[in-house]
Amino acid sequence: MQLKGKHIILGITGSIAAYKAAMLCRLLVKEGAEVRVIMTPLAKQFITPLTMATLSKHPILVEFFNPENGEWNSHVSLGEWADMLLIAPATANTLAKMTTGIADNLLLTTYLSARSVVAVAPAMDLDMYAHITTQQNLRTLAERGVAIIEPEAGELASGLVGKGRMAEPEEIVEQVKTILAGNQTKSLTGKRYFVTAGATIEPIDPVRYITNHSTGKMGYAIAEELAKRGAEVKLISGRTILPTPTGVERIDVLSAADMYNAAVEAWREADGAVMCAAVADYTPAVVADKKLKKSDDDLRIELVRTKDIAHELGKCKEGRTLVGFALETDNEEANAEGKLERKNFDFVVLNSLRDKGAGFGGDTNKVTLIDRNGREEHPLMSKREVAAVIVDKIEKLNK
Ligand code: C5P
Repeated sequence: MQLKGKHIILGITGSIAAYKAAMLCRLLVKEGAEVRVIMTPLAKQFITPLTMATLSKHPILVEFFNPENGEWNSHVSLGEWADMLLIAPATANTLAKMTTGIADNLLLTTYLSARSVVAVAPAMDLDMYAHITTQQNLRTLAERGVAIIEPEAGELASGLVGKGRMAEPEEIVEQVKTILAGNQTKSLTGKRYFVTAGATIEPIDPVRYITNHSTGKMGYAIAEELAKRGAEVKLISGRTILPTPTGVERIDVLSAADMYNAAVEAWREADGAVMCAAVADYTPAVVADKKLKKSDDDLRIELVRTKDIAHELGKCKEGRTLVGFALETDNEEANAEGKLERKNFDFVVLNSLRDKGAGFGGDTNKVTLIDRNGREEHPLMSKREVAAVIVDKIEKLNK
């Protein structure tokens, strides 16, 4: 999907990352997009209107009207003109105003009147980004259909190191293409899928629990990809700090038993499911109702088996698609093939903790797709690219 002829409003807010907006604008124009720039008043302190006007080939917009001649900058017609409103960088302040409907500058009034796709590329200090308010705002925006272009981890203007750096312009352009393409080709319209993602939490007492290192990133990327292609998607999610992907209905669960109930319920009216969650295999036999007290003796906790959700769904598949994951540390392929049969999956996505860049937490993964006809090995890719490969295979199964 090329950007030729696409109308993009580039909104710039007051963040140090505004300097990257110059490169972003240049790349968008180079791809053939028509770009109009709206800056918040503070953004002008970070990058000059002259730079942005030169790169976008149009005067930039800041005020509601020109005080010299009263000419009105109509946010309504701008909103109608655009195929996409892209706010990059988006500060915590602008994100908060977007969620509450505050409309005290031209960018925010344009956002409120935009009929186009809206995407934001947050940029801020790591603690501001991780703050519950910002995370809540991002989730709210995502639930309302705003595409979130995730910030990267790295060195920040404050000198601190962490997540909050605006995605690089090249990456934003790629995502803009995907978002616009997803809006057009809806190959999975009318299909209903659910994805399980993240780690479950098995309580021991009111304070402690058993869990694992899964962050949910892979499952979230798959849910996002399915939704982008027009499917109705439920995301049954263990605890995570990730924002809900655009257009996805998220069901939060904690324990394996909660996830089992939610999945069995969702399976009733699903065309398929991707079992990406790292579900606990064992859970404490009893959950103490008071905090377990320390003593000089050792403590033994009796663990009992949880129900295998995928196995349960596989028993009543009735021609529907069921995809599983296998995260292995040894004897990878044989283990994955065993799961394919035991759980009645259509295919298994195998990732090995022995591969660098694969598995928990990171933004990349290296997978092999295994079905009854053979193996498809893929190189190290971003989790978003892996999600696209998986959903491509799901689409083929549907044909
Ligand atoms: O057997 P193992 O847990 O390694 O199998 C992994 C696959 O089974 C994954 O797709 C995982 O989401 C799913 N699973 C499940 N319910 C469980 C355990 C695993 O759905 N209780």
